[in-house]
Amino acid sequence: MVSRELGIFKCFGCGLAGDSIKFIQEAEGLEFVEALNLLAKKAGVILKPKRQKTSPEEIKIRGILEINQLAGEFFHFILTKNKFGKKALDYLKNRGIKNDTIKTFKLGYAPNSWDSLLRFLLKRGYDIALIAASGLVVPKEHSSGFYDRFRGRVIIPLRNERGEIISFSGRALGKIEPKYINGPETLVFKKERFLYNLDLARSEIKRKKEAILVEGYFDAISPYQEETKNVVASSGTSLTTGQLSLIKKYSETLVIFYDTDTAGIEATKRALSLAQEIKLDVKVGILPDNIKDPDEAIQKDKKIFEKALQEAVSVYDFYFNFAQKHFDIKDALGKKRASDFLLPIIADIKHDIQKAHYIKKLSSVIDISEDAIVQALLKIANTNHLNDKISRTSPATDSGSKLSSEEYIIALILKVPNDLAQKTLYKLSNEDFYYDETKNLFVKLKEYMLEKERFLIKNFYLKLTDDERKLAEKLYLMEISLADNENIDQEVLEKEIKKIFDIINKETIRRKLKSLSGLIKNAEQEDNTDQLSRLQYEFSLLSKKVKSS
Ligand code: CTP
Ligand code: MN
Repeated sequence: MVSRELGIFKCFGCGLAGDSIKFIQEAEGLEFVEALNLLAKKAGVILKPKRQKTSPEEIKIRGILEINQLAGEFFHFILTKNKFGKKALDYLKNRGIKNDTIKTFKLGYAPNSWDSLLRFLLKRGYDIALIAASGLVVPKEHSSGFYDRFRGRVIIPLRNERGEIISFSGRALGKIEPKYINGPETLVFKKERFLYNLDLARSEIKRKKEAILVEGYFDAISPYQEETKNVVASSGTSLTTGQLSLIKKYSETLVIFYDTDTAGIEATKRALSLAQEIKLDVKVGILPDNIKDPDEAIQKDKKIFEKALQEAVSVYDFYFNFAQKHFDIKDALGKKRASDFLLPIIADIKHDIQKAHYIKKLSSVIDISEDAIVQALLKIANTNHLNDKISRTSPATDSGSKLSSEEYIIALILKVPNDLAQKTLYKLSNEDFYYDETKNLFVKLKEYMLEKERFLIKNFYLKLTDDERKLAEKLYLMEISLADNENIDQEVLEKEIKKIFDIINKETIRRKLKSLSGLIKNAEQEDNTDQLSRLQYEFSLLSKKVKSS
């Protein structure tokens, strides 16, 4: 729902809400400033950079980004134009990397020298402290001074979402350990929020409504070269939710394409549970066993990769696949192990038909009757249920799709014509509201509406605290067919308001009854007969009211 008056939106499906800039950010997959620029252009406004004092940290950040950019160009130049880059160029050619790709990814080569980059940067006038802060040089151990971190390696610039170079990784040219050297965390490089290639992949991820997640840099570069551009790499195996939520900004669906070795399988399992945690739809790409990773698959034949991508399986099929490979399901022990592994996974499936499908599949895979499997699942379900009960400390919160009657009546008041709203407001009192959030909003609404002839939500807005505004926003944007109808039927509306009003009244009375019964109990215990009869009388009056209405 979008409100033009307020310039805000809210999605009642996923809960996302915000102003017009946020809307463009989400719809177009842009950063804040990018969205601002787009809107400014549309509105014919020229944005001038604000002349504000930049903090020392900001100055440092800019300096590091500048140094990184320059270093990137230095490495790229050596690789593509300098004779020292020849060996590295051959290495990349051997890996099937084309010239265009080298340009797109700004690949480079760090010469095999202790200080060629350092000298280059110093000559350009950069301060040694700043160069050190970029992580491109390392302090010498036994004397003062610094030396180049990357020497004799193919350089892969690491870019952020905006395409700025925030760090580098260096790949050895042969079988030298370590295979990769990565830059350290700096002011501009935070590993757990970094995904390689997100800047180039994001628009394609958005377009295809799907992101492909791989492990290694080249597992992202190779598919990109072959026109599968929605690929990002977690670069290493310890994926974080921070990285996954970066993906979620652009797509709800993820295909995990990790290495086929044991470490890769373990990483896939971890990735799957993290992805499910943040509610990404996940599939898994499974490569033939003799192929290590997507890069190798494409080297061999890009069709292998494309086929695996097309045939990406659900999380459940991936686990079945895994269990079949890892447990010898011919004997009883293997069957036990496989089912111990798979049963909790099946038990978690919410959809009945999908669940039935996997029960049947397990039955046929381990050759055990479906009945026996269902029995085993029931046992699991019982223990889960118990755990649920124990761990649930607070009641499930309303996710926004369902309104309480208190919220509903405020929503109606916000939407209906003024006179009707005022009438309703007169009849309601603060005490009819039980929950503080709705009560506070109601109080302000009443105050504001009863003294104004014309209700302008925009002005009302100014009177609210942040929390109240959030609630008002939600209620104002909520789609209520009755009130949103162009030609509102006054009578129907009045009836609806009356109905809700009655419900709220009943709820109020019920609460009073409850507190009365507490007081009655006390009076009984204290043998306070006067008090008791008074309370009982009050109680009977109130309970009649509930019944009659
Ligand atoms: N990695 C790393 N440091 C290492 C080894 C690996 O940072 N010493 C990261 C790199 O991002 C690498 C990824 O983990 O791309 C996956 O590692 P691995 O599968 O060993 O390498 P590949 O990506 O297959 O590298 P290549 O194809 O160049 O052999
Ligand atoms: Mn590889």
